[in-house]
Amino acid sequence: MSTSDPKGPASAGSSPSLPEGYAPLTTQLPRANETPNFPTAAAASTPGIALAAARVPGGPSLPDFDPMTLTRVISQMANEMFSAPIPPAMGAPGPQDVSSLAPSASAPSPPAGAAGSTAPMMTSPPETPAAMPNPSPNVPGGSSPFDAPPNFSAIEFPPDLFGGFDPSKDLSLPVAPPIAEMPQIPAQNEIKSPAAVPPALSLESFEIVPHDDISIRGLGREPFDANVIKREFPILSEPVHGKRLVWLDNAATTQKPQAVIDRLKFFYEHENSNIHRAAHTLAAKATDAYESARESVRRFIKAPQAKDIVFVRGTTEGINLVAQSWGRKNITQGDEIVITWLEHHANIVPWQMLCQEKGARLRVAPVDDRGQVLLDEYEKLLNTKTRLVAFTQVSNALGTITPAKEMIDMAHRHGATVLLDGAQSVSHMPVDVQELGCDFFVFSGHKVFAPTGIGAVYGKSDLLEHMPPWQGGGNMIQDVTFERTTYQGPPFRFEAGTGNIADAVGLGAALDWLSKVGVERVERYEHELLEYATKELRAVDGLTMIGTAPNKAGVLSFILAGQKTEEVGGMLDQEGIAVRSGHHCAQPILRRFGLEATVRASLAPYNTMGDIDALVAALHRLQSGRSGMR
Ligand code: ALA
Repeated sequence: MSTSDPKGPASAGSSPSLPEGYAPLTTQLPRANETPNFPTAAAASTPGIALAAARVPGGPSLPDFDPMTLTRVISQMANEMFSAPIPPAMGAPGPQDVSSLAPSASAPSPPAGAAGSTAPMMTSPPETPAAMPNPSPNVPGGSSPFDAPPNFSAIEFPPDLFGGFDPSKDLSLPVAPPIAEMPQIPAQNEIKSPAAVPPALSLESFEIVPHDDISIRGLGREPFDANVIKREFPILSEPVHGKRLVWLDNAATTQKPQAVIDRLKFFYEHENSNIHRAAHTLAAKATDAYESARESVRRFIKAPQAKDIVFVRGTTEGINLVAQSWGRKNITQGDEIVITWLEHHANIVPWQMLCQEKGARLRVAPVDDRGQVLLDEYEKLLNTKTRLVAFTQVSNALGTITPAKEMIDMAHRHGATVLLDGAQSVSHMPVDVQELGCDFFVFSGHKVFAPTGIGAVYGKSDLLEHMPPWQGGGNMIQDVTFERTTYQGPPFRFEAGTGNIADAVGLGAALDWLSKVGVERVERYEHELLEYATKELRAVDGLTMIGTAPNKAGVLSFILAGQKTEEVGGMLDQEGIAVRSGHHCAQPILRRFGLEATVRASLAPYNTMGDIDALVAALHRLQSGRSGMR
């Protein structure tokens, strides 16, 4: 579906329409009487400008204007305040020795209650030339007129300029609240109508209830049709070496449906802005879109609150965040961290680094010959010194589904905190972090039909609240002076700098798309496909399957007698079939089986039995010497 040809406007007025299926943006300003000093939780339940205001502790509370009027108010105020030329004394000060700065009597006060805001910027304020009319009375001499909170009472506005609203009376400087009172991330920003459904999908059989728990009725009437899903992915029509592309490298990354591509295009065409920092319309739209995506993540993994979701680049960054923030604070010498033999390097190396730094010990639970964690051996590793258990829900190299709930409960019985790596599970099975009980859950967007460079960490709120920041910079602070900085609460404390805004929005769209398809249906379908593929592959001469646990997600790792894995990968590519060959960033588990590499075919809901047949036929040709690759 093209955004240039939407079926109908999703939002009122002349604004461009969102791709069909996305709710109109909910940008509203908090009502003045609800926000005496700072937007209340109720006002902040509409994100966008409300949230933007909430994120600027020194900023004024905002009146009940629509975005356009507000923009006009702000422009008018700026004109009033800064119409006079800035006196020379207000030029940027030269380099200064911060430690020698003395407080100045006439420097601006920090907003009342803003912790740590006691040090002024200048040793002596500039003189304001008497002849200068209205010389930016709020500027104490910082390098920019915006260095200090404005004093609106010093500005005279023409009567009735804003229809009775008097900025000098009605705008009050807010008191920055302590972190615990920061407004909640809105959780009510629901998708009100289904996301884009291409014409190929039969809407009769996909009756969508547009609410928190998106449900699909009529599933019993119509079987899951992977060919229909496949048509939603434009890249899957791409020929490779003159052959139809068969994408079986889904554990490395998934392809993106049109709904996600459209959502990204819409964002860059109509919403692009930085977030949380400005009171203009696009900032509000971008903030709405970003925070709606956080809500989509929350809903998808059934986290209790959107503020428990931190956006990161992906699973690797998420695990590093937990290691460096929670880990550095809580792991000390002699402590133990338990992982399993199944782990991806991203769930090994950050813990190794932490153990090295802290003098802690990394312990590894073994697996059996089918690739299942030996639960009694795992339990033997748990003791009072175990501070953290980190393990994967699905092995990327073998496909083993670990008994996550049981392992989490066992770890909790020994007082350990648990991180569950969901990189390979979220796209294949329903995840409920509350039911699982894990303390942290991490996953990457690109393995669940979303763009690369975006992922999420879920953390239990009492853990996130007490974790220090791991990166410093803009966006994560509440107040900064040269001497001391106070931080935002979660999740912003962990999102320093400008994040991957558009791709976070794309992640939200991907999860909404998968929810509509129905992740339970995907799980059932992929299980059937896995069984079919396992049976067919076993018939290939000289093929040995690596990872034969009875409980597996869609990963088929194998070796072929007499063939190098990279040559098998190269031959399959010539046939238009994409698989991964190599160590899959999981060397320890392959070495457990005496191997350095396997060929890995990994499944997604758009894979068909025809895709499996193409793979199997190509392998038969290779083994019979008919592929020309021997
Ligand atoms: N972790 C990704 C994989 O398993 C890259 O291929």
